[in-house]
Amino acid sequence: MADAFKLGFGPFAAPARGIFIVFCDEKLNFGPATTKALGPAGDLVARAAKAERFTGKSGSALELIVPAGLDVARLVVIGAGKTAELAQKDLLKLGGAAMGKLPVKASEGTVFAELPGGAMSPEQAADLAQGVRLRAYAFDRYKTKRKEDEKPPEKRSVTIAVGDVAATRKAYALREAITGGVLMARDLVNEPPNVLYPEEFARRARALKKVGVAVEVLNVAAMKKLGMNALLGVGQGSGHDARVVVMRWNGGKRGEAPVAFIGKGVCFDTGGISIKPAAGMEDMKGDMGGAACVTGLMQALAARKAKVNAVGVIGLVENMPDGKAQRPGDIVKSMSGQTIEIINTDAEGRLVLADCIWYAARRFKPKFMIDLATLTGAIIVALGQEYAGMFTNDDKLADQLTKAGAETGEKVWRMPLAPEYDKMIDSKFADMKNTGGSRWAGAITAAQFIKRFVDDKTPWAHLDVAGTAFDSRQTDINKSWGSGWGVRLLDRLVADYYEK
Ligand code: BES
Ligand code: MN
Ligand code: ZN
Repeated sequence: MADAFKLGFGPFAAPARGIFIVFCDEKLNFGPATTKALGPAGDLVARAAKAERFTGKSGSALELIVPAGLDVARLVVIGAGKTAELAQKDLLKLGGAAMGKLPVKASEGTVFAELPGGAMSPEQAADLAQGVRLRAYAFDRYKTKRKEDEKPPEKRSVTIAVGDVAATRKAYALREAITGGVLMARDLVNEPPNVLYPEEFARRARALKKVGVAVEVLNVAAMKKLGMNALLGVGQGSGHDARVVVMRWNGGKRGEAPVAFIGKGVCFDTGGISIKPAAGMEDMKGDMGGAACVTGLMQALAARKAKVNAVGVIGLVENMPDGKAQRPGDIVKSMSGQTIEIINTDAEGRLVLADCIWYAARRFKPKFMIDLATLTGAIIVALGQEYAGMFTNDDKLADQLTKAGAETGEKVWRMPLAPEYDKMIDSKFADMKNTGGSRWAGAITAAQFIKRFVDDKTPWAHLDVAGTAFDSRQTDINKSWGSGWGVRLLDRLVADYYEK
């Protein structure tokens, strides 16, 4: 992890230093432990609230510096709104908001996991803690110079005061496993492309062995032998060789078909010979966001010992334009045997996925396949940063993903697939071409392309995460460029529908 941050749990007691964070409802009510800890400072809070017209509305906060009667440097009261209606994602948000009130230079914080009705349940307090942890993440390993007041202290810690310490610790352990996966995905996406090229990504994926994931890495020779020429064509213009990583977690019944996740891992996408404009090209270091999510998910499933058999397959390449690079007009034969005419070398993600999906289906005969890819600019035009695009041949999987999305806040919106769109990728010279020929329906024609590598009997969903994986929407639980989007969504999908 990039940051030196410690999260702990303890009983309710007025803190002796640092930042003290408490919650109230929209009528400025506090729980009994909070009222007790505030003591005479409660009066100060009431006066400050009146002066600031602070009522405790959800999302609002009141701050008192060196409040008389307390030993702390600062007291923060966060409005939790209507506290009877808090869902999991609201608690995450509250935790994130609390962490947001800890300035970078502050070394210690205490958060009271209490609402007017009393101590939060262990599950609620654990959700709150996860929100704190997700918000605390910062990718700053390349910052060597900081102004004095922007320097984080050597160690930062937050203590969450709870009713039942042991039970909350237990509930949090599960969430910590999931958070670990999210933060791993964020780190991978945030890393610069000179550091994180295919081989280095594969090396980091190998570290999943520590949590019990079986990891295999296919090199170029192995991929050639398998006939993965669609993927290899994308990587052939780079000085960094391509890799495919296969990760397996067997926490389910022996011999039971696994669920499969496939990720686009273009470590840098220049566009290749169909080169991209210079402006904003640096963002294409995040074009491995799908692969990062799959890797983080496998880490999370293993760390929480999920009762499921799962495989992750990621295709790692760098799309570069050198003298050996793929050309528009080239025809490649994919592992499936189908031939592809390259029209635009910048439509490379689908080529990588074509071989990875085919490989995963053949080798593992999975229960379902979900691929994640920062595949098209068109999906950002359609959905912006709020929803990922979901394309699927299976209504049940669509329903499950939609529900998991609503619960976790990592939302998906179903987009259409239809034979009329499929026709748009027919080629004059080969079985298909790699773009639709115009910009119309760009995200859909990309999905139609991938669909040609999926047999109709396997439930499959393609998530176009171009708008959600990086340069992401800043929220209470995410201030990072690389969001780690999808780890919580897919972990929830597995937990709710595919375990036991
Ligand atoms: N990695 C890009 C898609 C992308 C663009 C993701 C912006 C995130 C932000 C992908 O490889 C790509 O270049 N797609 C092209 C396809 C086109 C050439 C058919 C696109 O979307 O323009
Ligand atoms: Mn591209
Ligand atoms: Zn790309």
